[in-house]
Amino acid sequence: MMLNETYTLANGLQIPKLGLGTWFIEDSSAARAVQEALAIGYRNIDTAQAYGNERGVGEGIRSGGMPRGDLFVSSKLAAEIKDYADAVAAIDGSLAVMGLDYLDLMLIHSPQPWNDWRGGDYAEGNREAWRALEEAQQAGKLRSIGVSNFQQQDLENILSVCTVAPQVNQVLVHVGNTPWDLLAFCTEKDILVEAYSPIAHGEMLKNKDVSAMAERYSVTVPQLCIRYTLQLGTVSLPKTSNPEHMRSNADVDFVISEQDMETLKHQHISDYGRYSKFPVFSGK
Ligand SMILES: NC(=O)c1ccc[n+]([C@@H]2O[C@H](COP(=O)([O-])OP(=O)(O)OC[C@H]3O[C@@H](n4cnc5c(N)ncnc54)[C@H](OP(=O)(O)O)[C@@H]3O)[C@@H](O)[C@H]2O)c1
Repeated sequence: MMLNETYTLANGLQIPKLGLGTWFIEDSSAARAVQEALAIGYRNIDTAQAYGNERGVGEGIRSGGMPRGDLFVSSKLAAEIKDYADAVAAIDGSLAVMGLDYLDLMLIHSPQPWNDWRGGDYAEGNREAWRALEEAQQAGKLRSIGVSNFQQQDLENILSVCTVAPQVNQVLVHVGNTPWDLLAFCTEKDILVEAYSPIAHGEMLKNKDVSAMAERYSVTVPQLCIRYTLQLGTVSLPKTSNPEHMRSNADVDFVISEQDMETLKHQHISDYGRYSKFPVFSGK
């Protein structure tokens, strides 16, 4: 069963291959969503300071009836934090808000603040934030550390000075957007890639070619999309607050043929409709 499968990070920690994304789950409903996900068998939960639901996610983790050690909980340092002291305070802030002694993974959410996406030079600020993450890992507050939305040059900036290399890079990967060169670079550096928005934030549900292929496998479009990211060797983080969707999204023990993987690899999505207003879907 996919929910029980794991990858091994560069630091030796096991990370469940399939997790639950929580972007756009309100703080007030996050605890229930996490409890439901844990009851279904999810063990990997992804949140961020920017989602405004760390409190609810933490409550769900603490009240979900599972031993803390069986769970993999991730959060992200806000994209705007680009200095050491603010990063130290924000890491402690996440732990306090979530009511947890440690996180399994913390990521720098983005190499640039959201209002300057793919803009100015934040190399120094990212190195400062990274130092704070390294020290928190050393102190046992974070079991693993990584980055998100980092391109090759952003990773090289960290790799050139770090004492510990990022264990994870969480990036936009889905049918229609497969960043080949970045995936290859991360593999070469032993950085595990997590695929966020594996269903293209829901946009893939409208794609006729993908629907037709899903029908051929007798699966849903989300199942085909999630399986695609898993077969690429990435962690898949579909978001849903609907327990039926949580259940079916985890039912992905089928195999996409090599030929169909090739077809899916060559899909391109250039427009995320009304979601293009979010920097991550802006195509930059
Ligand atoms: N690091 C970053 O910068 C970053 C950026 C974006 C996302 N993320 C992470 O990745 C996670 C997933 O990305 P995402 O939220 O953008 O989008 P996604 O997982 O690609 O798609 C979510 C959408 O698909 C729907 N959905 C999910 N399962 C479904 C099913 N079985 N049937 C029908 N509809 C289904 C959801 O609606 P329902 O809730 O109604 O099921 C929701 O509207 C986020 O929650 C977050 O944790 C990270």
